[in-house]
Amino acid sequence: MGHREHWSGRAGFVLAAVGSAVGLGNMWRFSYLAAENGGAAFVLVYLIFTIFIGLPVLLAEMVIGRGAGRSPVQALSHFGGSVWRPLGGLFVVTGFLILAYYSVIAGWTLRYAISGLLGGFGGDAAARFGAVSTGIAPIAWHLGFMAITAALIASGVRAGIERSALVLMPLLFAIVVGLAIYAATLEGGSGGYAYYLSTDFGKLLDPHVVVAAAGQAFFSLSLGMGAILTYSSYLDRSHHLPNESVTIGVADFGVAFVAGLVVFPLIFALGLQTEVGESTVGALFITLPHAFQEMGGAGRVVGVLFFASLVVGALTSAVSLLEVVVATAMDGLGWSRPRAAWVLGAAVAALGILPAHDLEILGLMDQFAGNFLLVAGGLMLSLFVGWAMEDPIAEVLAGAERVRWFPVWRGLLRWVVPAVLAVVLFYSTESLRAMIFGTPS
Ligand code: PHE
Repeated sequence: MGHREHWSGRAGFVLAAVGSAVGLGNMWRFSYLAAENGGAAFVLVYLIFTIFIGLPVLLAEMVIGRGAGRSPVQALSHFGGSVWRPLGGLFVVTGFLILAYYSVIAGWTLRYAISGLLGGFGGDAAARFGAVSTGIAPIAWHLGFMAITAALIASGVRAGIERSALVLMPLLFAIVVGLAIYAATLEGGSGGYAYYLSTDFGKLLDPHVVVAAAGQAFFSLSLGMGAILTYSSYLDRSHHLPNESVTIGVADFGVAFVAGLVVFPLIFALGLQTEVGESTVGALFITLPHAFQEMGGAGRVVGVLFFASLVVGALTSAVSLLEVVVATAMDGLGWSRPRAAWVLGAAVAALGILPAHDLEILGLMDQFAGNFLLVAGGLMLSLFVGWAMEDPIAEVLAGAERVRWFPVWRGLLRWVVPAVLAVVLFYSTESLRAMIFGTPS
C-alpha cells in the first residue's frame, strides 16, 4: 500500500476535524430546526445528545480510524472481520448522498455571497431565493462548488485539506463572533433571545423534537458515516484522543450556538419572525437576506460576511464528505488520489443535479441520509466498538493517560447509545414514512 499521508501536527488534525464538523449544519440546518422545533427546547435536547451520544461515538470513530490506519471499509474489517465490511459500504453511500445535496445548498450560499458583494441584497427576498434555487442556475453553482471541493481533495491531506482548514476556520470563527456582537447592538432583538433561550419544558419529550435533535447531533458532528474515522486514519499514536474529541465537540456546539445568537436577534429586530419556520430554507435564505436588505448599507456588509462564513464552513465540510469516498477508492481499488477525487467528485456532482432541480428531493435526501442513515450508522458504530472490537480502550490509551471514565465510555457504547438510538430510529422511520407517503405523523 505504500506510504500513507499524515497530518503535520496536532493543530492540523483538530482544525480539519473542526472544519468537517462546522458547516451548513451549524447555521442552515441548526437554525431551521431550532425555529421549527420550539427554539430552546430543541437546543437543550440537541446539547444533551451531543454530550452523551455524540461525544462517545466521536471517540469511537477516532479509535477505529487511528487504530486501523485505513479508510472505513478496511478499518472495520481489520478489527471486526469481513462481516463488518457492509457497514463501511453504507458509510460511503451515505457520504455520497449527503454531499450530493449539501453541495447544492453550498452553491446557493456561494451565489448569495457573490451577488451580495457585487449588488447587495435589494429586491424581493422570496423572489430572489426563487431565482437562486430554480432552473439551471442552482445546477451551475452546485457544479462549481463540487469542482472546488474535488480540487482541494486532489491536492492531498496536508496541502489541500489541512491548509485550507488552517486558514478558513479562524476566519469563520472571527466572522461569526463579530456578527453576534453586532446583532446584540440592534434594538428590538431581545424577542429573538427570548425565543432562542427560554424553554417550554413540555417540548423536551416530544418525539419530533427528539428525532430532529438526535439527527442534528450526528449531522453537525459529522458522525455516522466515517468522516471522522477517515480523518483519524491519518493520525499518529501521540494524539490524546479524548481531549481532541472534546475540543471538536465544544467548537462545533459553540459555532452553532453563536450562529443562533446572530440569526434570531436579527430576525426579531426586523420584525420578521412570522416569516421563519415555513420551510427548511426560510430562515437562512429568505428571512435573513430580507433582514440584510432592510438594514441598508450595513446590511450589505453583514450579509456578505455572513454568507462568506457559510461558504467557508461548507467547503471544509464538503471536503471531508468527499474524502471518505476518495480514501475508500484509494485503499480498496488502488486508485491515485487525483483520479479518485475527479472521477468520484464528478459522480457526486451528477447525482446532485436531482436535488438542485427539485427542492422536495433535497428535503427528502436530507431526512433520509442526513438524519436516518447517520443515526443508523452511529448505532452500528457504537455496537461495533462496544461489543465487536477487542480492546478499544487500549487504543485510547496510546497518547492518553488512564482515566477512570474510560470503562464508562465503553458502557455507554454498549448499552445506552444503542438503546437510545434504536428508539430514535423507530420514530424517524415513522416520520420518513409520513414524508414519503404523506400520511400525518
Ligand atoms: N458536519 C457538517 C456540517 O455540520 C456536515 C457533515 C455531515 C460533514 C457528515 C461530514 C459528514 O455542516
